[in-house]
Amino acid sequence: MKTRAAVVYEHDAPVVVDTLTLDDPKDHEVLLRMGASGVCHSDLSVVNGTIYYPPPVALGHEGAGVVERVGGKVSYVKPGDHVILSFVTYCEECVMCEMGRVCLCQGIDARKGYLLDDTCRLHNKAGHDIPQMSRIATMSDLAVVPEQALIKIEPEYPLDRAALVGCGVTTGVGAVLRTAQVEPGSTVAVIGAGGVGLNAVQGAKLADAERIIAVDLVERKLNFARQFGATDTVNASEVDPVEAVKELTGGLGVDYAFEAIGSSVTIRQAFDMVRSAGTAVAIGLARREDLVPIPPQELIWSEKKLIGSYYGSSRPRVDMPEYLRLYDEGKLMLDELITKTYGLDQINEAFADMGAGKNARGILALDM
Ligand SMILES: NC(=O)c1ccc[n+]([C@@H]2O[C@H](COP(=O)([O-])OP(=O)(O)OC[C@H]3O[C@@H](n4cnc5c(N)ncnc54)[C@H](O)[C@@H]3O)[C@@H](O)[C@H]2O)c1
Ligand SMILES: [Zn+2]
Ligand SMILES: [Zn+2]
Repeated sequence: MKTRAAVVYEHDAPVVVDTLTLDDPKDHEVLLRMGASGVCHSDLSVVNGTIYYPPPVALGHEGAGVVERVGGKVSYVKPGDHVILSFVTYCEECVMCEMGRVCLCQGIDARKGYLLDDTCRLHNKAGHDIPQMSRIATMSDLAVVPEQALIKIEPEYPLDRAALVGCGVTTGVGAVLRTAQVEPGSTVAVIGAGGVGLNAVQGAKLADAERIIAVDLVERKLNFARQFGATDTVNASEVDPVEAVKELTGGLGVDYAFEAIGSSVTIRQAFDMVRSAGTAVAIGLARREDLVPIPPQELIWSEKKLIGSYYGSSRPRVDMPEYLRLYDEGKLMLDELITKTYGLDQINEAFADMGAGKNARGILALDM
C-alpha cells in the first residue's frame, strides 16, 4: 500500500513529504490510520542532526490514530481501537522494565529506526528503506508500528488532543510529578515555555507548587505560560534569568528548576538558579558534544542535584490514560496547547513557526 510521510533526506534541508510504499504489518505489528501528529522540537532535532539518525528517516513521534489492521500474534488491540503512540518501545523483560522503569528499557534500543525484527516497512520509489523515527514515524497518513508502542484510549478523545499526550504532556508533566516529585508548596522555575515546558508549568500547578516562574526569550511564550499556571515570568532576552529567579525568591533560588530547551547554557542556568540542596532537571536534548560545565567543589558545597528526565519517567500505558482523566476533570489543559493545525504538506512551515516562537504547540492533521 502507499502512504504520504514526512521524510528527512538530508540534514538541515527542507523535509520532503514523499509518497512511500508501506508493507503489511508482520507479527506483533499494527497498521494505523494516523489522526494527528504534534510538532515537537525533537522532530526538528532529527532534521538538524542534534538527535542523530542517519538520513533518510521518516519523522514524527507524538501521535494518535486508529487501528486499521493487525498483524499476526497481536492481542492488545483490534481494528477500530483508538491509540496513542509511545516513542519508547520496551521489552517488559529486562531489569529496568521489571523495576517499572520501562522508558529506561535495556532490552531494546529505543532510538533505533527499524522495527523489532530489524527490517523496515517504509520504502521510497528508488527502493531504499526509510527507517522510522522512534520506530513509529507518526507524521504519515498510515503507519506500521510495534504493538508494544500502543496505548489504548477511549474513542471519545479528539485525536489531536490525544496526540499531545504522546510526548509533550507526558514529558513535561511527568518530569515534575514523576521524575522530580515536586512537593506542594515548592518553588519551581521552568526554562523554555514550548510544548514541553508549558506542560512542566502545568505539572507544577498540579503539584500545588507555590511559585512557578517561567523563563523564555519570547513574550508570547511567557503569555502562554501564565495561562498554564505560571505565577511569575522572566524574559531572558532582557534580564539575566539566574539573577531574576534569585531575586524573585528572596535571594535563595528555587527548590526545583526544569530546563526544557536543550542547551548546556540553559542547563547550567537551571543548576545556578536552584537553592542549595535543590534539584535541577534537564529535559531538553542538547547536542552530544554540548557539555555542561559544573565545578565539582560547587556541586559538593551546595549539595545540589542535577538529574535527567526521559519521557517524564513514565509508564505509558498507566500514565497516559491518567493524563486524559485529568483532562476530563478539567485539571489538565490540552485544548489550549494547540495554537495552530497544519496539513502534512505544511510541515516546513510548522517548523519555521516553532523556531519563531509562534505556537504553544503546532499539530499536523493527518488522514482521519
Ligand atoms: N526528555 C525527553 O524525554 C524529551 C521529550 C520531548 C522533547 N524533549 C526536548 O525538550 C526540548 C523542548 O522541546 P519543545 O518541543 O518544548 O521545544 P519548543 O521549541 O516548543 O520550545 C522551546 C522554548 O525554549 C525557548 N528558548 C529557546 N532558547 C532559550 C533561552 N536561551 N532562554 C529561554 N528560553 C529559550 C523558545 O522560545 C521556546 O519557547 C527539546 O530539546 C526536545 O528535544 C525531551
Ligand atoms: Zn517530543
Ligand atoms: Zn526492557
